[in-house]
Amino acid sequence: MGELDRVLTIEDMKALAKRKVPKQFFDYVDSGAWTEGTYRANEDDFRKISFRQRVAVDMDNRSIASTLVGHPVAMPVATAPVGFLGMQSADGEIKAARAAEKFGVPFTLSTMSICSIEDVAENTSRPFWFQLYVMRDRDFVNRLIDRAKAAKCSALVLTMDLQILGQRHKDLRNGMSAPPKFTPKFVFEMMRKPGWAMGMLGTNRHTFRNIAGHVDGAGDLSKLAAWTSSQFDPTLNWRDIAWIKERFGGPVIVKGILDPDDARQAVQHGADAIVVSNHGGRQLDGAPSTIRVLPEIVDAVGAQTEVLMDGGIRSGQDLLKAIALGAKGALLGRTIAFGVGAGGEAGVARALEILRKETDITLALLGERDIHNVGPHNIYANELVKRQGY
Ligand SMILES: Cc1cc2nc3c(=O)[nH]c(=O)nc-3n(C[C@H](O)[C@H](O)[C@H](O)COP(=O)(O)O)c2cc1C
Repeated sequence: MGELDRVLTIEDMKALAKRKVPKQFFDYVDSGAWTEGTYRANEDDFRKISFRQRVAVDMDNRSIASTLVGHPVAMPVATAPVGFLGMQSADGEIKAARAAEKFGVPFTLSTMSICSIEDVAENTSRPFWFQLYVMRDRDFVNRLIDRAKAAKCSALVLTMDLQILGQRHKDLRNGMSAPPKFTPKFVFEMMRKPGWAMGMLGTNRHTFRNIAGHVDGAGDLSKLAAWTSSQFDPTLNWRDIAWIKERFGGPVIVKGILDPDDARQAVQHGADAIVVSNHGGRQLDGAPSTIRVLPEIVDAVGAQTEVLMDGGIRSGQDLLKAIALGAKGALLGRTIAFGVGAGGEAGVARALEILRKETDITLALLGERDIHNVGPHNIYANELVKRQGY
């Protein structure tokens, strides 16, 4: 029995990733901003929602297939953009993209990825989504959009909630960087994580390849880090959606919405879908969990646009609760990142399989046969779910 066969839950996957990935990169994933209160709330608030069990319903021929921004998916999830995935395991973005493609759900590549848009396109056969951070250097942003278009990316995910970085204490204490600095502490970590180290020796992809070589003044690695951190454009606003959408020519999904008014703004300015997200609790510490605000955002714009959500989804049960509260689908951040760290492509495949099984069996226990029929009637009203009609 292999290590991954013993992984039955995403919690198990996280524990395995912790054993395999050097501390600074594992901590980078398992961290939120400041007190990490919002990071914890994302997970905890799912536990406050109870399902309504129904029995004696024909549960044959179940389906959890759906569509996201017009494309069929095996299960209504996509991988969330996660920076540095290629530091969880060598070529992590390519591995995750391949697993997502085989499973039949979209992979989203972060601007801050180790493997570039072209690396992922060359190593996959289905279109993926590209997540855009808007930088001050608009020529660079234009070229990024053009590269995503040339790689036939099927959607652009425009992240609006990270023009300034929320402070994450673990990263500061660990001195997180890509490529890692070879301090004595890090060399010791590599000796304890030989599989990770061997993988990294086998690839030349060690830094932000969407950026390196694509901008003047960021040629060598120390300049690249400085360039990147000074580049997030603080003037980003709703009007930027229009030119980005026009340049890309395909669907633009606006990510980082936590307020109904912002959701309305995004829709008015042309968003084809939105992602209710607090960046996995990594930005505004003290903000509510995403599952808590999801219903009011669905009330505000659910009739006009596709509402996706992310934050805290670690099981098929969590996914079904989000769908019951009005999400069309969900993005998976840490669930996928732990899969990459624990077992590369096979780890992501296993993570998705765990969610598939949980979603399918839970659907049956709810007395439903088609995920499209899941709704408010499948959960109990409570303090968290106080929307009318629940
Ligand atoms: C390690 C890590 C890196 C991330 N990097 C990005 C990124 O580059 N771009 C982005 O839009 N969101 C990024 N996010 C946020 C995720 O896309 C997503 O919103 C969040 O992880 C969802 O919460 P979950 O991890 O609980 O599923 C990152 C999240 C994590 C955990």
